[in-house]
Amino acid sequence: MELVQIQLPGDFGGWYPGPRVDEVTAEKPVAFEGGGVKILVLRVTGALRAFRNACAHVGLPLERGTCDTEAGTLTCPWHGFRFNADTGKCLSAPQCQLEPFPLRVTTGIVWVKPS
Ligand code: FES
Repeated sequence: MELVQIQLPGDFGGWYPGPRVDEVTAEKPVAFEGGGVKILVLRVTGALRAFRNACAHVGLPLERGTCDTEAGTLTCPWHGFRFNADTGKCLSAPQCQLEPFPLRVTTGIVWVKPS
């Protein structure tokens, strides 16, 4: 998985640019870093979502996870925890949750505001 990192001058109110919209497919989450935070962007049922790129199990990265577009899930590549790719809710351990981030698209670029 390619890590995208862009350095821009100035302050964008806490928003960071990530991948182009067309780089995020239903099968392939994209990881990038903004403001020192590791971010995962994925596409589920046509919509884009952003989460902290840390599995709710033990915090390992998720960009090599498997997306099931019919079920709308993301499965962690490390130990198999499954997440609702829309909400980040863990289906394997209900007490766990991916941390969602606000996302917007401007001129074909995904922008994320990590907290
Ligand atoms: S780190 Fe994701 S299931 Fe263990």
